[in-house]
Amino acid sequence: MNNQSKYENIKNLLQKYKQEHLLNHYESLSLHEQESLLNEIQRIDFEKIVMLYNQIVNCNNDGEIEFKPLEAQNWGELDKKQKEHFNALGMDLIKNGKVASLVVAGGQGSRLGCDGPKGTYNIGLPSQKSLFQLQAERLINLSNKVNRFIPWYVMTNPENHEETLYFFKKNRFFGYPQHEIFFFKQDVLPALDMNGKILMSSPSQICFVPNGNGGCFSALKRSGGLNDLKQRGVEWLFYYNVDNALIKVADPGFIGYSHVKGHPIASKVIEKRNPDEKVGLFVLKNGRPSVIEYTELPENIKQQKNLSEQLLYNQANISIHLFHINFIEKVVDCNLPYRVAKKSIKTISGQVDAYKFELFIFDLFPYSKSMTIIKVNREEEFAPVKNKTGPDSPSTAKNLVLNLHRKWLLNAGIPEELIDDRVIEISPLVSYCGEGLSVDLVQNQLNPLVIERSQIK
Ligand code: UTP
Repeated sequence: MNNQSKYENIKNLLQKYKQEHLLNHYESLSLHEQESLLNEIQRIDFEKIVMLYNQIVNCNNDGEIEFKPLEAQNWGELDKKQKEHFNALGMDLIKNGKVASLVVAGGQGSRLGCDGPKGTYNIGLPSQKSLFQLQAERLINLSNKVNRFIPWYVMTNPENHEETLYFFKKNRFFGYPQHEIFFFKQDVLPALDMNGKILMSSPSQICFVPNGNGGCFSALKRSGGLNDLKQRGVEWLFYYNVDNALIKVADPGFIGYSHVKGHPIASKVIEKRNPDEKVGLFVLKNGRPSVIEYTELPENIKQQKNLSEQLLYNQANISIHLFHINFIEKVVDCNLPYRVAKKSIKTISGQVDAYKFELFIFDLFPYSKSMTIIKVNREEEFAPVKNKTGPDSPSTAKNLVLNLHRKWLLNAGIPEELIDDRVIEISPLVSYCGEGLSVDLVQNQLNPLVIERSQIK
């Protein structure tokens, strides 16, 4: 079809869906730009856009909902022997190639406002390591222990994909074998203005935005990643956010425990601090495991306490999950609900309020009858990098990492006077979660001191 007839077809299509403005600048574009704009418009599923916009306008009601608390195991309440047992089991699964990890790194990081992919962000540790490097080195630590690399799936979005790849290449994949990392792109959807009109980022470009972390399994399938997982014989996929500086990637204890429990999904949770903390909560919703966002939580559920005066609903979601491959295969083609977010985005007319449609990974949970929930220590496992300053920012995340490393040294019996008020950072290549630390590592009087693998004799 030549450009003219393609143009006519598309013009009719746009008229049908009242989106004619997408061709407002068409005449002023170069031939190449014209073609690329027509191709972009052809990619849009207009029926879906109409359906999503109508969803906002006719805000629907869920009806009567029954909430119940979900059972959880507090990891800290297991004894040393039990922890060692689950840890060893998890390491065995890793050793036998049964475990892979998946990082969702396709978000836009708009609150952080960083240039480039969030995983490339340096939170200001003395080592200046990026979030991706911290994750790679934790995976390498485990991999070295079992002499086998843990396959690592990295979800990007079409906009940050090349930059993410370039960052990994520039850093020689942080020592990871290239064939053990699988990069794949998630889907995008157009953003809409408040009247349901599709926004443009330039005269020739539609404002496409990533479709949420819940799109990860369908993107994995489309890219061949799911087949790759199956061919490798992987059973468990460890899922996590790119922006948690304390993430214990592929945590063997968590994997071992969840494997024994045998539910198709497992999640780590932390204790909610107070009724008003803005976190999503794990609950049984109409008998199914679910995450309820803080905006959706009924006031009586939010405040309810048990006999010991603790919050009854207190399991905060930190986006650390484990999925069994059979479950992923079962749900990969299901239609998750789109959730709408109102966000300010950059368009051809400057910064405007827009509707973004996103799929959330936790909307998969009700597809399983049961889940394993493990409660972990916030200070040891959760250092989110969301905002530029204030809470959940690079600076709070950096301090959480440094405080944890100080605690590891004290737990290892290193005298306090040797640590003093020095800033000490421990490379993930040296220690995954506080093991293998000895006094000779802190003899060096540098401040800040970065304990690297080269120091180990
Ligand atoms: P957030 O919801 O915190 O979004 O993502 P974000 O994009 O990082 O930050 P804001 O809201 O724009 O400030 C939680 C996790 O889900 C990933 C993010 O990369 C992060 O790891 N994510 C989010 C995707 O991979 N794709 C998406 O479309 C959205």
